[in-house]
Order: sequence, then structure tokens, then C-alpha cells
Amino acid sequence: MTTNKSLSEAIAKHGTRRESLLPVLQYVISKERWLKEDLLEDVAAAFGMSPSEVYGVATFYSFLDTEPRGRYVIRVCRTISCDMAGKSAIIDALKNELKVGVGETTPDGLFTLLETNCMGWCHQGPAMLVNDDVYTELNPESVVAVVQKYRNMEKQ
Ligand code: FES
Repeated sequence: MTTNKSLSEAIAKHGTRRESLLPVLQYVISKERWLKEDLLEDVAAAFGMSPSEVYGVATFYSFLDTEPRGRYVIRVCRTISCDMAGKSAIIDALKNELKVGVGETTPDGLFTLLETNCMGWCHQGPAMLVNDDVYTELNPESVVAVVQKYRNMEKQ
């Protein structure tokens, strides 16, 4: 059992199912600012994963940046499994739908399109995040539907 307060809080809030790993890491990093080795090992133990697996997932936290971003930050996995599963078509569909390139934000400030490293959903690629929400087994049509879902949320 971890003695780290942030990790304990994150686990109490999100649990230790695999889909909770990203929210837990995000919570911990928001409090700790970085994932120390012993903390990474505690996360791995809590999730029944190896520290290297957790580290692989945590690398996408290179996106803890200070640049202004859209309300919805889309991060498409660019790592090999998702790449081979059709990540390029996903990026093309998003570029076409949002009319922005990777690294850019739509003029209305709603969406930022980014690529990221493996998020641990390799077996269900292509995968992407929209803020904290994970989307898997994507195709060019489904990503357009995802974008539309967030647009519709804004209208409510
Ligand atoms: S390679 Fe895309 S989630 Fe792992």
C-alpha cells in the first residue's frame, strides 16, 4: 500500500482498474509535478503492472505544458501499434474535420490536435484521448462523430 498522499487520494477517487490509470497519473502529477521513481513503482504495484509499463504510459505527460490549448485537447497515439492500426487516417480525418494541423488549435478555441505516445491501449488501436476520455478502435468516421459529440456538448 502506498504512503503517498496524492496517490492514495487518486486511487480513492478513480480506483485501480486499467482505465483509471490515466486519470490517476494525471491527478498525481498535478499534485507532485513529476512522477518520482518510487511513486511510479507504487502506481505500478497498485495497478498490477510493471513500472516500465506505467512509465510508458506516463511519457505522454510531456503534454503538461503551459501553452494555451483548446477546451478539448485531442491526443492521437502515434506509437507503433496505433500507427500500424491506421493512426495516419485518423489524423487526416481530424485535420480535415477541424481544419487545423497537428499542434494547432481551432480558431473557436474548442479543439487542439496533438499526437502523443502510447497510452496503454495498444490492443485496441488506433486510440486517442479527448482530455481525459479514452477512445479506441477508431476509424475516420468514428473520430468525426467524437468531434461532433463535443461540439454538441458545447451547444447544450
Ligand atoms: S501504441 Fe497506441 S496506445 Fe499503445
